Amino acid sequence: METDHKAAMTQERCDRNGTQDIQDLRASLSTDGLSAEHLFHFADIDSTSSRAHELARQGYPEGTLVLADCQTMGRGQHGRGWHSAQGKGAYLSLLLRPCAKPAHMTGLTLMTAVCLAEAIMETCGVAASIKWPNDLLVRGRKLSGILTEMSLTGEAIDHVIVGVGINLSHEEHDFPEEIRRQSTSIRMESGSHPGRATVVHAFLVRFTRAYRGYLEQGFASFASRWEDLSCMTGRAVRVACAGSAIEGIATGIDETGALVVRCTEGSEHMIVSGQVTLVE
Ligand code: BTN
Repeated sequence: METDHKAAMTQERCDRNGTQDIQDLRASLSTDGLSAEHLFHFADIDSTSSRAHELARQGYPEGTLVLADCQTMGRGQHGRGWHSAQGKGAYLSLLLRPCAKPAHMTGLTLMTAVCLAEAIMETCGVAASIKWPNDLLVRGRKLSGILTEMSLTGEAIDHVIVGVGINLSHEEHDFPEEIRRQSTSIRMESGSHPGRATVVHAFLVRFTRAYRGYLEQGFASFASRWEDLSCMTGRAVRVACAGSAIEGIATGIDETGALVVRCTEGSEHMIVSGQVTLVE
């Protein structure tokens, strides 16, 4: 989980009604009893997560949702960017205000990944696997990423922003050269996609239900669903963190969502953050 940041300001257009699919999303969220009251749709924006942090600081409530057709400064983990081409993907950020200790939120990204993989399977028929902690992969290529950022006041959580990017309708040539061979989209995997609103709606329904369970029971109640969807267990991994690296076999996750890695000499490491590479 990454900490708060300074929002970069760019020219942007906020459209409270949105395109037809956003109107459909608003309607389907209301039908399912989810609040669509604070749904902000932008034709283009720097980053939906940056905007969601700003809305949080302005006092917007839990459940506030920011969606964009395009991001000019989409952010990924470890200071990387997120390619956010116009109309090609779903780019969204959700504002949460959990009454919980910061340490309780470490498995939130993993829970989100479970909801996302299940929603994509349900709506698109595409089986994505989870690479710890925040990637959804198909054939080893990245389909979707999650960026969870927590903002603290003292030692208490002020808010959490869960940002999700899903590649929907990209063809291979739509990705920049440097990520082309590691990236995929729903369309590349299945020939079509059911529409942004359908996928986002399925994700939000699952997320809302799961989040309530997570606050009550923690990550442990999602661990088996995560294991079923994960591509990590039994794989050789390299974990880089704060200038050092370890190599070993990923043997699973613990009850908090930390990745358990066993090194060849037998030592066991609980990884809570770091860049994980699948070695083979
Ligand atoms: C990653 O895989 O490194 C995480 C990518 C997260 C991208 C999403 S797109 C919507 C939201 N806004 C951002 O700037 N980033 C997240």
